[in-house]
Amino acid sequence: MSPRLADLELTGARVRVRPIDPTDAPRGFALLFQRREILDQLVYDGPANESEIVDRYSEWKRVGDDADDHLFAVDDLADDAFVGTISLRLKGHPFLGSVGYWIDPERWGRGLATDAIRLTTHLGFAHLGLGSAGAEVYSSNPASRRALEKVGYVESHEASAHTYVGCPSDVPRWVLTIQRRQFRQANPDWSPSSERVDLL
Ligand SMILES: CC(C)(COP(=O)(O)OP(=O)(O)OC[C@H]1O[C@@H](n2cnc3c(N)ncnc32)[C@H](O)[C@@H]1OP(=O)(O)O)[C@@H](O)C(=O)NCCC(=O)NCCS
Repeated sequence: MSPRLADLELTGARVRVRPIDPTDAPRGFALLFQRREILDQLVYDGPANESEIVDRYSEWKRVGDDADDHLFAVDDLADDAFVGTISLRLKGHPFLGSVGYWIDPERWGRGLATDAIRLTTHLGFAHLGLGSAGAEVYSSNPASRRALEKVGYVESHEASAHTYVGCPSDVPRWVLTIQRRQFRQANPDWSPSSERVDLL
């Protein structure tokens, strides 16, 4: 039986990662609604209205036949504001993980996504039986590629097992992946500033 999450709070240098909550919905809607600079890079059209995002944020963990999906809030430690999300999809065993994320454009370039990716990748490897993780990045999105590379992800030319359902196949993209050993090598002296991970 693979470990399954009951709750968590992980803190890095710049962000906190925690389960998303319906109380995050008003701010999530304000940040995402019709924000093409975010949505054009995601396999998600964004919320049509606030109640849609309340529904989405009401279930931070979905256990499916094929995969377990987790949706975490990213809070900026500078002011404790909710500023984005990061998702972790786990499938197979050992788990193959996929990460997906967005950050408030007002806060881009401050290392928030990098910190959230590092924490979430650590969560998978250290606590959830993750075998490898990956992300698909449109080649129009070098900032996302760079954030992944800073954590130790490297470009892979193998057929992507990390594809999100719905990703249009005709859009040029990079696939970046990381193995547990690569994560340790890329982050040798790193650990979260604090971590609480409760398993079922
Ligand atoms: C991608 C995204 C999450 C990055 O968030 P962020 O908090 O700004 O990321 P970070 O600050 O941790 O890292 C971004 C890095 O990319 C670099 N960067 C920014 N624009 C760049 C560009 N055009 N070319 C190359 N590097 C770029 C930044 O300088 C930074 O690197 P550095 O720390 O070495 O200077 C954010 O731009 C976003 O939400 N985009 C829309 C949604 C999205 O793309 N999600 C990911 C889908 S795969």
